[in-house]
Amino acid sequence: MIANKLAILLLGYVTCLTVAYGQNAVYWALGSGFEPTSSVRGLQIKEQQQEIWTATLPFVSASAGNDSVVGSSGSLDITKVDERTCTGQSITSIQNVVWEGSTTGSAVQVSGLLQDCGGYSNSYALTFWIPDDLQDRVAFYLDIAATADAANPLKKLYFRYHSHEDEDFYGLGGQASFASLKNQSIPIFSREQGVGRGDEPVTSYGNENGSFSGGNRFTTYTAIPSYISTDGKVVYLSEKSTALVFFDFTDPNAVSIRYDSLSVDGMFMRANNMFDAVEMLTAYTGRMPKLPEWVDSGAILGIQGGQSKVRSIVEEGLSLGCPIAGVWLQDWCGTHSQEGPYINISRLWWNWENDEALYPTWPEFVQDLRDTYNVRTLSYINTFLANVSTKPDGFRRNLYEEASTLQYFVENTTTNSTAIISSGPGLEAGIIDLTNDGLRSWFAEMMKTNVWIANISGFMTDFGEYTPVTWDTTLANMVSDAFFFHNEYPTLWAQYQREIVEELGLQDEAVLFHRSAAMSSNRYMNLFWAGDQNVDFGVNDGIKSAVTIMAHMGLSGYSQSHSDVGGYYDVLTYEGFNVTRSAELLGRWGEMAAVSSSVFRSHEGNIPSVNAQFYSNTSTYGYYAYNARMFASLAPYRRMILKTECAPKAWPLLRPPVMYHTNDERARQVSYQCFYLGPNLYVAPVLEPQTFELSVYLPEDNTYTYVWTGQTYSGGQDVTVSTPYGKPAVFLVGSASDIPELEAFLDFVKRENTTRVLVE
Ligand SMILES: *[C@@H]1O[C@H](CO)[C@@H](O)[C@H](O)[C@H]1NC(C)=O
Ligand SMILES: *[C@@H]1O[C@H](CO)[C@@H](O)[C@H](O)[C@H]1NC(C)=O
Ligand SMILES: *[C@@H]1O[C@H](CO)[C@@H](O)[C@H](O)[C@H]1NC(C)=O
Ligand SMILES: *[C@@H]1O[C@H](CO)[C@@H](O)[C@H](O)[C@H]1NC(C)=O
Ligand SMILES: *[C@@H]1O[C@H](CO)[C@@H](O)[C@H](O)[C@H]1NC(C)=O
Ligand SMILES: *[C@@H]1O[C@H](CO)[C@@H](O)[C@H](O)[C@H]1NC(C)=O
Ligand SMILES: *[C@@H]1O[C@H](CO)[C@@H](O)[C@H](O)[C@H]1NC(C)=O
Ligand SMILES: *[C@@H]1O[C@H](CO)[C@@H](O)[C@H](O)[C@H]1NC(C)=O
Ligand SMILES: *[C@@H]1O[C@H](CO)[C@@H](O)[C@H](O)[C@H]1NC(C)=O
Ligand SMILES: *[C@@H]1O[C@H](CO)[C@@H](O)[C@H](O)[C@H]1NC(C)=O
Ligand SMILES: *[C@@H]1O[C@H](CO)[C@@H](O)[C@H](O)[C@H]1NC(C)=O
Repeated sequence: MIANKLAILLLGYVTCLTVAYGQNAVYWALGSGFEPTSSVRGLQIKEQQQEIWTATLPFVSASAGNDSVVGSSGSLDITKVDERTCTGQSITSIQNVVWEGSTTGSAVQVSGLLQDCGGYSNSYALTFWIPDDLQDRVAFYLDIAATADAANPLKKLYFRYHSHEDEDFYGLGGQASFASLKNQSIPIFSREQGVGRGDEPVTSYGNENGSFSGGNRFTTYTAIPSYISTDGKVVYLSEKSTALVFFDFTDPNAVSIRYDSLSVDGMFMRANNMFDAVEMLTAYTGRMPKLPEWVDSGAILGIQGGQSKVRSIVEEGLSLGCPIAGVWLQDWCGTHSQEGPYINISRLWWNWENDEALYPTWPEFVQDLRDTYNVRTLSYINTFLANVSTKPDGFRRNLYEEASTLQYFVENTTTNSTAIISSGPGLEAGIIDLTNDGLRSWFAEMMKTNVWIANISGFMTDFGEYTPVTWDTTLANMVSDAFFFHNEYPTLWAQYQREIVEELGLQDEAVLFHRSAAMSSNRYMNLFWAGDQNVDFGVNDGIKSAVTIMAHMGLSGYSQSHSDVGGYYDVLTYEGFNVTRSAELLGRWGEMAAVSSSVFRSHEGNIPSVNAQFYSNTSTYGYYAYNARMFASLAPYRRMILKTECAPKAWPLLRPPVMYHTNDERARQVSYQCFYLGPNLYVAPVLEPQTFELSVYLPEDNTYTYVWTGQTYSGGQDVTVSTPYGKPAVFLVGSASDIPELEAFLDFVKRENTTRVLVE
């Protein structure tokens, strides 16, 4: 048993002093009578001869001051505020304490004082133990006593431990802008990711006039406090530790966790490699449930506009040789117009019943698509309800009115009524309070009678980021305050919807795709979607960022992910620029999805009329159909990986090269340029406009055969390959051509080598 070999060392000025190495798990030889001398400089935890965690004094600190969170409705700008930061730390005792949930029933507790926190000293206790259900890791609990300074109490803690220049970090959820997170300070907070996120000029435009709708390189829908390092180290906070946290990697020799509360718990561990690390992480968080097999066979067409439009686009696709697994009809609940620059945009009515103008015979229509074309239907829901009393074509139930009366929304204690969120002019809504048992049964009943009443196969499970954080926010059941609670909501949302699916017995049929996620949400969702990218080639928020997000999500335990083919956000401005979708972007995004994702699903974008659509004409549909065939040809290979690697071990389908080439400096710096799809394909998608040749880095220790030409290259070099439309750079790794599950793909490559796809 590994746990028996755990040692906690005291670091002295000169050498390490081994003080525990017992037969039983955590054994603290010096017992409770021990008083460390001033020669103690820090602590180290080792497992056999492997270092797991090392810290030198001071490694705990705290500060006063409320962090500032400015903005509303999901677009939240965070500024750190630190006052009265403690300036020193002492260790006054190290002892065994009785501890529930530990393998031995006891833990090692280090306690002492934080000195000079604005004139006061504060005691702290840092406790380590081996959890009895996960004996390959060390759990910690750090608790700082409330200050005597009632006027300006300590608010947050710092916890700092060793790293080194060569340790790189990955994960922490849907990170979109970086390869390694080394040298960054990463906030963990679920919010709108922003439109631009640093890509210009659109970010500055969005962040004008006190708004934060542009976001920055750190904004993400996810709040996942777990990382994996190139040393095989895995660190995460527990599911209960949902406060805002920064993982600060800016000091090359240290990691610092800044946590917005006075107590935090989590775990440290060390794996042999990054694959084992993902497995260890997900032994705690859980793994994604099975993705139904029907998604493998073709595209899921994102269409809006009503029954006859959907039917004719499906029929056209089938006649053009487009394999269609399903349609995704987010406007099933109806749309209304929202004022925007140049043109008004169409928004959904957030009242979860079918719109009788667009989909008058919804259940029959859904069943007919299924029975006539073998095409599944996905719809849309989110965490909001909007007042539909002004809906011109009527409604059967006004869920907003019902929920308001029942007080089922997150509430505002200033107004004593629903906390209202806004999604642009004229779109106000309440957020359902998932901590309220009444709401939970009422909404579940509604899900069954309104949403699952048609024979749909799932939906986009949107939002999850919007619970307000101000002091006047209240929910029915919270352990702390709304700011602390905020990051808990995405997991509650995923868990809640999954439970309904299981109650209905639809777990082998339903696909629910979320963009918001927090600790352990992966246990409850069978598909992650990378959120709302701009319809451009940008690094921080365009097509490239979709790959980066999938890569970091993979190292956060999300093995099954995908993005909106074509992107989502259009931006029309009066300032001399627009962001709208070209046919080229749509085509290249489809290629990328075909060779990277577990699901191929397109989106019309937020202003469909200014975008190239797959159904715009036979050129765009031809390219899309080709990409869907490429995706379908990879089905046996993907499914094998999902079954043998994703389900049992949570190894991601899309793997950043660092997972295989951990000590390769260049591989460590790859964010979107290339990745492995499973173990046998190495892929460099074309993510730049007008790029028909790509220089691709091939890491050492493998050979790579370019599928489109059959040419084999040895690793450890950059090669330039031809990448006309329809030909993303895909290489077989080693002798992958022998793998039977790749036969269908290699047939596709041969058969379609001369298929011409067009963007005109
Ligand atoms: C800080 O937040 C607390 C609530 O958590 C509030 O009571 C207090 O007034 C705030 N302090 C300042 C200076 O805003
Ligand atoms: C770390 O980040 C800073 C600021 O972004 C940058 O100036 C510096 O070059 C980076 N250092 C390394 C080693 O990447
Ligand atoms: C910011 O305010 C200026 C002046 O009122 C206005 O011209 C501009 O359009 C605003 N920007 C945005 C993004 O709304
Ligand atoms: C946009 O909507 C507003 C009100 O919602 C309306 O007054 C205006 O005429 C619409 N503009 C266009 C171009 O349809
Ligand atoms: C819904 O909207 C109608 C019309 O604006 C209004 O009269 C009603 O009070 C609203 N309902 C709630 C619960 O706010
Ligand atoms: C909200 O309720 C509290 C307590 O019931 C009351 O003191 C306060 O005046 C109310 N505020 C408003 C705006 O109605
Ligand atoms: C509550 O309403 C007040 C007044 O409209 C507003 O300033 C505050 O931001 C609201 N808080 C929440 C949580 O909705
Ligand atoms: C949904 O459609 C499939 C295929 O026609 C059928 O087998 C199944 O029974 C239907 N489910 C429901 C709940 O109607
Ligand atoms: C932006 O799009 C609008 C609406 O399609 C159009 O009228 C305007 O000319 C475009 N502006 C630029 C700079 O292309
Ligand atoms: C097809 O639609 C795309 C996107 O709108 C456009 O760029 C292209 O010119 C069109 N081609 C034809 C033949 O109409
Ligand atoms: C595809 O066609 C090119 C050019 O005609 C040829 O060089 C290449 O070998 C073909 N590739 C395959 C896999 O058949």
